[in-house]
Amino acid sequence: MINTMSNPNLLQAIQNSFIGRDTEYPLVDGSSGPRRYLDSAATTLMMQPAFDVARSFLDHYASTHSDLHYAAKGASQAYEWAHERVLAFVGADPAEYCAYFTGSGATAGFNRIAAELSAKRPERDVVLISEMEHHSNDLPHRKHNGETVHVPLMGEGPGYGGIDLEVVTEIVRKYGKRINYLAVTGASNVTGALTPIHEMAQLVHSVGAYLVIDASQMIAHAPVAMADKTMDDADIDVLVFSGHKIYAPGSPGAVIAKSSLLASMTPAELGGGMVDDVYLDKYIPSSALPDREEAGTPNIVGAITLGAVLDVLLRIGMDKIREKEIYLINLAWEKLSAISEVNLYGAAPDVMPRTGTISFNIQGFDHGLTAAALNDYHNIQVRNGCFCAHPYVRELLKPELWALDIDPDAPNSEADVERKRGMARASLGIYTTEADILALVEAIVDLISRKEEILSLYEPEGSNGYRHREYVPAAGAIFNPETALEAALNMQLNCVA
Ligand SMILES: Cc1ncc(COP(=O)(O)O)c(C=O)c1O
Repeated sequence: MINTMSNPNLLQAIQNSFIGRDTEYPLVDGSSGPRRYLDSAATTLMMQPAFDVARSFLDHYASTHSDLHYAAKGASQAYEWAHERVLAFVGADPAEYCAYFTGSGATAGFNRIAAELSAKRPERDVVLISEMEHHSNDLPHRKHNGETVHVPLMGEGPGYGGIDLEVVTEIVRKYGKRINYLAVTGASNVTGALTPIHEMAQLVHSVGAYLVIDASQMIAHAPVAMADKTMDDADIDVLVFSGHKIYAPGSPGAVIAKSSLLASMTPAELGGGMVDDVYLDKYIPSSALPDREEAGTPNIVGAITLGAVLDVLLRIGMDKIREKEIYLINLAWEKLSAISEVNLYGAAPDVMPRTGTISFNIQGFDHGLTAAALNDYHNIQVRNGCFCAHPYVRELLKPELWALDIDPDAPNSEADVERKRGMARASLGIYTTEADILALVEAIVDLISRKEEILSLYEPEGSNGYRHREYVPAAGAIFNPETALEAALNMQLNCVA
């Protein structure tokens, strides 16, 4: 048996073990080849060893919360193990913190936390959030709290982004004890801007406010710790992330919160598993954590997949993963910033620490055209649009949009405007290679060199997209569940034939 703990080869072995990383797709010229997946900020590919753990569990599948048959005992223990892995991954002391799973991602966690924290301290009617939040870490707070104050960021124009501690200090001083909590992303899903989370904790704790961190874009890219032992009063109260953004598609969202905080709140969701007893006229919620926060039958398979991923990443070491990503970010930034026709957003990585999420536009190309042409001609998969962070994207685009006589903040704009009001986004994962980055750069250079031809080959589709005028991918090139089901059923029928 090879010792996998901190094995120097583990990172390399894992990078090459993602399901679907090399799936082949056709190109306009009739050839086909493996894709380059640069859309990890939207969702990551599945880590094969974690999938294998989940598959093994299915041989023993049963529900949790019982110990009296072997399968249920195994399921309960494995589900508990998944909780322990989450706590270990963020260095949370189990005596102080509790982890629970919720919904299909971080969104469910934010809705729960916003409802619970606002109900706990209605006298604190202000919530602070930054201007770079994903809508999931914005709208739930607006819904449940009296006043939501959006905290401005550093810099301006295309370089806008990253938390300005002086600005936050001023705002915390202004609203003082009216602030219930500050909810801020650990890393932007548009520019990758990283937040100094422990400094933020100190600041808000000075007025008795809580700190809620959206770790959705940070968790797979940088080491995350609930507390920084070198700083006083710098521990995070609540941290939320999505399992599908850390190589476990199909897994739930995770919330890590101080147990004392959860124990003092009424659970937002009710049902089986979270009560000690129910009578016709009353019910008694359980005091056990995480049970009281996990009403209903949990996503056991997803939680175990996530637990396995986190264990693997702990064995590799998140510092090593960050180191590799920094190398790729710097390489991409250096090459892309040298192309005068490319606009990059957020400040350079040496000025603003950032994760491997790089949003850009090619001058003269709408964001949808860039994404479509990268896919059709180069097999490079990037996302485009406003990435559910509309206020932040509009702020970054202001100078460009003003130059085109477009009002960045005009509500419900025409499709022609929406096609300009967005970006393309290349985002990295642990499986991204130097070759992927160089291929992206080369592809962008190619599109720029054929600008007129590319513009004439595509027509707009909807408010966001572009379609090639002549090229249509062959039937079967894109996943179709019915075809996959037919193949699966045929395999079963062959077994009985
Ligand atoms: C920063 C950030 N927060 C929250 C979310 C919401 O995550 P989910 O859709 O998994 O609930 C996302 C998803 O893109 C995100 O990037």
